[in-house]
Amino acid sequence: MSGAKISALLISLVLASLAIADDDAPQQVRQELMKEVREAAKPVGNMLRENEAFNAETLMNSLMVFAKAADQYGDLFPEGSESGFETEAAPAIWEDRAGFDMALSEFADATKLAIESSPMTLEEARATVSPVFRTCKGCHDNYRVEE
Ligand code: HEC
Repeated sequence: MSGAKISALLISLVLASLAIADDDAPQQVRQELMKEVREAAKPVGNMLRENEAFNAETLMNSLMVFAKAADQYGDLFPEGSESGFETEAAPAIWEDRAGFDMALSEFADATKLAIESSPMTLEEARATVSPVFRTCKGCHDNYRVEE
């Protein structure tokens, strides 16, 4: 690798770590992430309810947002972030971490299956995307206190 390439690589590594190491508390980061998930879920919900025309590309983009969130979410509940910032995280996350991790991996797995199935029609989307939404509720029922 040339010197220029190495320094470009180092610069991008530094920038990447800066983006992660900003001043936001984990409560804020996880709320932002869930807001992104909500925005991504909206068009998908509309498609499934036939309030919006099916669009395979929009659907895939939303699924990628879910996958990214699922990938990052587990790290955002350290000790000490049980309260503050109007968090809706339930105490059960810290009392039953294994159950929470399980709910999270169900979300991640369902999302991965939906992406792999690459739905091209509404019918195909119903089969693989509806189960993803059940995992949202599955986690919220036990691990989110809606204010
Ligand atoms: C593994 C658990 C889990 C899964 C799966 C999950 N959520 Fe959440 N969600 C939470 C928790 C915990 C909070 C509260 C976080 C906080 O306030 O600190 C939350 C918060 C939210 C919020 C409120 C965000 C805000 O602060 O305004 C929305 C909207 C939301 N989730 C939508 C979804 C949708 C849609 C899905 C599925 C596509 C989903 N969630 C899947 C655990 C989960």
